[in-house]
Amino acid sequence: MMRLDKYLADSGIFSRSEAGRAVRSGRIAVNGAAVRDPSAKVDELTAAVTVDGQAVRWTKYKYIMLNKPADYVSTTDDDPKSVMKLLPPEFTRLGMFPCGRLDIDTVGFLLVTNDGPTAHELLSPKHHREKTYGFECLPLTMEMKKRLESGVELSDFTSKPCTVQLDDATHGRITVTEGKYHQIKRMFHAVGSEITYLERLTFAGLTLDKKLARGEWRELTEEEINVLLGK
Ligand code: URA
Repeated sequence: MMRLDKYLADSGIFSRSEAGRAVRSGRIAVNGAAVRDPSAKVDELTAAVTVDGQAVRWTKYKYIMLNKPADYVSTTDDDPKSVMKLLPPEFTRLGMFPCGRLDIDTVGFLLVTNDGPTAHELLSPKHHREKTYGFECLPLTMEMKKRLESGVELSDFTSKPCTVQLDDATHGRITVTEGKYHQIKRMFHAVGSEITYLERLTFAGLTLDKKLARGEWRELTEEEINVLLGK
């Protein structure tokens, strides 16, 4: 059981004080009956709660798919260029953070969540969760592609085997199971090419929604959350 104003604030639609005002003004119903007391207790697992007649659902964790634009930084620091500035301020209040980092000039799928344990697992190299990046690069020969695929020795580690699909010498997709700092750029550099454009297309079994323009976001569907959590 939890307070109604906390339930609403946790759902990410109101701050706690906005939630209190919404409840007092009669906009909230619980199991079909208007409730005007912000401290009223609701069962977060079973209650049917509506705001102006629209259902809201409490979940312990939120999961957001963000299509990251260039020039934004994957940080929760209070920086005007933080990816968190692309999301409602309630999300920062709920303790949400980007799951891993994309470089400032890398675009595409960035998961933002407040599910710390799952984020930790998704980022752990032990779990081998695949990520596919679309790229543009300086021309790659078949020999360089083979070297990328079999693993490249870098200053601090050797990349694991991965797959590279080429559309032509300068465009393609690469799928890796690791996520080391500047990994893709460093791998291409090591074989004598350079990345000139990088977009993350998939993350841990989920595909970037083509309907999201750069800078847009949406919540993951229940089905996507199940894929993420390996259910
Ligand atoms: N590899 C990189 O080099 N940069 C990214 O942003 C992601 C993967």
